Amino acid sequence: MQSANMNVMIKAARKAGRSLIKDFREVENLQVSVKGAGDFVSRADREAERIIKDELRNARPNYGWLGEETGAEDGEDPTRRWIVDPLDGTTNFLHGLPHWAVSIALEHKGEIVAGVIFDAAKDELYTAEKGNGAWMNGQRLRVSGRRQMIEAIFATGIPFGGRSTLPATLRDLGALMPFCAGVRRFGAAALDLAYVAAGRYDGYWERGISTWDVAAGIILVREAGGFVESIRGDGPVQDARNIVCGNTALFSEFAGIIRARD
Ligand code: IPD
Repeated sequence: MQSANMNVMIKAARKAGRSLIKDFREVENLQVSVKGAGDFVSRADREAERIIKDELRNARPNYGWLGEETGAEDGEDPTRRWIVDPLDGTTNFLHGLPHWAVSIALEHKGEIVAGVIFDAAKDELYTAEKGNGAWMNGQRLRVSGRRQMIEAIFATGIPFGGRSTLPATLRDLGALMPFCAGVRRFGAAALDLAYVAAGRYDGYWERGISTWDVAAGIILVREAGGFVESIRGDGPVQDARNIVCGNTALFSEFAGIIRARD
């Protein structure tokens, strides 16, 4: 049984997804000049966050809030907060690449208890609630059963624009590549996590990531039977700014390789 909160989250994600898809078609059809595309996408992003905030705030006015565009706001209920990335994969969106998503999570007492990720371009809706499993369009998700590193595919985000986490990520890649079947960088962290939950990737790690990028995906992977931790293994993962996750069989070997470089 889906909770009332989950219904609210799904409604908000679908509504924002519809708004974003309209804007995305304009980007795809190049009705937006390359010069104006950045501003156009920021407007699309802000509008999606407004839609989500209205829906969630109307339904649960006392919860706190953390959104990529509008920042943090305390709620009357200090134990619960929504964590929202209205458009994860902004750069893909800007370039007309159909790999981006809406991400909405609910945190209770420092733990993510529900998550929705909506890949509107592919019409894939990922949902998970604590104790109720992970799902995509009504189909139960399980992490992959792969047991050999050499058969495994991992995903990451490669820090751009001179970020300080780039050298460590390049060292991670150097250490991991000889032992696995490949590393992907598709450009939307929420979907990287959803794909681990769906068994498409065998693991994912990233350095220098934000709370809203990973919050919903954390519960998806956990409810699909995988492991999710911060690279240093301390505190709530969603606030750690780095993450490593994977299927049951390979997690410790994979995380060991990443942690050896920390
Ligand atoms: C970004 C994407 C990307 C990840 C970056 C994030 P945004 O989120 O998730 O995959 O590598 O670290 O900032 O900016 O598109 O919401």
